[in-house]
Amino acid sequence: EKGGYEHFMLKEIHEQPRSIKDCFRGRLNASEGWVSLGGVKDYEQKMINAQRIIMVACGTSWHACLVGEYLFEDLARINVEVEYASEFRYRNPIINENDIVIAVSQSGETADTLAALELAKSKGATILGICNVVGSSISRITDAGSYTHAGPEIGVASTKAFTAQVTVLTLMALSLAHKKGTLSETKFRTMLSELEIIPEKVQRILERNSEIEEIAKIYKDATNALYLGRGSSFPVALEGALKLKEISYIHAEGYPAAEMKHGPIALIDEEMPVFVIATKGTSYEKVVSNIQEVKARKGKIIAIVTEGDTDVKAMADHVIEIPDTDEHLVPILATIPFQLLSYHIAVMRDCNVDQPRNLAKSVTVE
Ligand code: F6R
Repeated sequence: EKGGYEHFMLKEIHEQPRSIKDCFRGRLNASEGWVSLGGVKDYEQKMINAQRIIMVACGTSWHACLVGEYLFEDLARINVEVEYASEFRYRNPIINENDIVIAVSQSGETADTLAALELAKSKGATILGICNVVGSSISRITDAGSYTHAGPEIGVASTKAFTAQVTVLTLMALSLAHKKGTLSETKFRTMLSELEIIPEKVQRILERNSEIEEIAKIYKDATNALYLGRGSSFPVALEGALKLKEISYIHAEGYPAAEMKHGPIALIDEEMPVFVIATKGTSYEKVVSNIQEVKARKGKIIAIVTEGDTDVKAMADHVIEIPDTDEHLVPILATIPFQLLSYHIAVMRDCNVDQPRNLAKSVTVE
């Protein structure tokens, strides 16, 4: 049932070109220039008119929301607040009938996320869901929603569900932006074409598996690691760190790269691997200077760069190249090397990759 792979996690990582394609099947057509999420179509005008949209989730799904926030705000100019479901529900949040709350959940059963939605509903908000498991509790209590269609995810560490969540949020942001008129037709069409070929680019990253395994060998005995990114790559850093923690039990933290100088830089020495997303785009130069700060303190840099990069390559200890794409789509690609890296490190440390200690696939306790 693992399709020839040693673990479900590895199988699910490799399924991503297909799961992303399944996610936009029937929802995206670049040559005809349209995107449409049938499930939430009736709520799009309400989303455009809303003062703000609140996204609630836990864990990896919360990271997907952070990417979503960036996409909704930048592409559709819609104000988004992202909340941990557990914090939201216990804070006596200010919500009313004009609010829209979107829950993101692979299982659709996470107790805190479900309770956050129930609270929002009781205050009259419109509640929407982005779930993977069809017919799950969250998908049943929401007013409407979009499934991620990633297929069953067995490995406890979420991989293909995350990239599918980000894909749905990207489709949603594009659809809202198009309807609202915040994107030029040319830019809209270019993004659709870029999104349509993302699965092939994911495939090209998967082909670097053995290269990533070599890097894993070098850092498998680390006791700590830092992950840095800026903009929409910041949540990718958080997700990279979470993946390493949960399956390899190495302490790791994700930080916005610019925050390093406000504290975490004190941790850096020759023992500290620092994983950086340094792809081409608006914050490239800034990230390059963050890399220099780490190198000046003898930290080890493992950088995810755009194919053909030379500047970061000259400074970093290791680079992993990913194909060039629209900046808004980088999170989908940049996540893949981190998934593989955590996987290989966990295997080399003899950890139970598919069933990490103390964790459950769906957290139905509060
Ligand atoms: C991490 C992981 C968890 C889940 C979290 C939310 O790999 O799997 O952090 O993301 O428990 O679960 P769902 O998405 O089912 O609500």
